[in-house]
Amino acid sequence: MEIIKATSTKIKDVDFENLSFGAIFTDHLFECDFINGEWQTPTIKPYAPFLVDPSLKVFHYGQAIFEGMKGYKDENNDIWLFRPEENFKRFNKSAERMAMPEVPEEVYMNGLVELLRIDRDWLQKGKNHSMYIRPFMIGTGTGVIANPSNNYKFMIIMSPVKSYYAGEVKVIIAEHFSRAANGGIGYAKAAGNYAGQFYPTNLANKEGFQQIIWTDDATHTKLEEAGTMNVFFRINNTLITAPVSERILDGVTRKSLLDLAKRNGMDVEIRSVLVDELVEAAKNGSLQEIFGAGTAAVISPISGFSYKDTYYELPKNENPWSLQLKEELTNIQHKVSEDHFGWTFKV
Ligand code: COI
Repeated sequence: MEIIKATSTKIKDVDFENLSFGAIFTDHLFECDFINGEWQTPTIKPYAPFLVDPSLKVFHYGQAIFEGMKGYKDENNDIWLFRPEENFKRFNKSAERMAMPEVPEEVYMNGLVELLRIDRDWLQKGKNHSMYIRPFMIGTGTGVIANPSNNYKFMIIMSPVKSYYAGEVKVIIAEHFSRAANGGIGYAKAAGNYAGQFYPTNLANKEGFQQIIWTDDATHTKLEEAGTMNVFFRINNTLITAPVSERILDGVTRKSLLDLAKRNGMDVEIRSVLVDELVEAAKNGSLQEIFGAGTAAVISPISGFSYKDTYYELPKNENPWSLQLKEELTNIQHKVSEDHFGWTFKV
């Protein structure tokens, strides 16, 4: 790997206690190009804009995929990643679906490790802090003929972060718009999956909701995913989340929470929750919690939901499972408690 070090640092201008999520980036980035069928020598170099041709495939046909990961610094100043191999595998699943080349494991993993090492001072200690890591790949071939690119750029950029959502999250259940369809790209972390949500989410925001809970596209009766997160329901002291499918992202936080919940002796069910079941549970008092789970948001409790113009407020919980699970998960991630699962990876 070639390393070109930045000659100056922006770190002294950063107020680490007041960070907008994903708004500032560290001094370096990782880059590896795929040209005419071959991965080239990877490079770490100063973070900077770059010049590109306006006809790049990514601009016209959206050949773009990404991952969301986090790095954590423990009390001894050691840096840790959380289940990085899961993100690596999912990245290449996304690549396959978008007709992009698979990134070799050593390129992906060495890129992460070396970038975190070189910009290690940007990662603060403490449970309020983490480094959001964004590996991504774009089609960099030129020409507007609608076929897959022959060239690609794989990059990793990093942003020191605190929390994703500030304050309560109210959601609205999708009755018309869809995030994904069978046979589509819903399970891939493709950029367009997120762009497609912006318009309906803007409409939801105007009505006072931060996120949409997506339903299945065919019938709009099954609850599937919440915007940037997987979604969990606690009904009658059972934790329920939808099975991953062609339409639902196989979230790393989602699967980790399922394991943690089982280890805690919580009743867990992996099945679709019907909208009617949720409304009924809200009415009869058996709906205890809803929360979203994802790398960026970690666990985000949902305070209420709207469906067919009726708003259902969730009860206030003394000891919510969302907080309990969040505490346990972040303790493992920050190496505050023992990692029984072997999830943490030392950088
Ligand atoms: C993540 O949780 O890392 C995501 O990829 C969601 C992102 C759109 C902020």
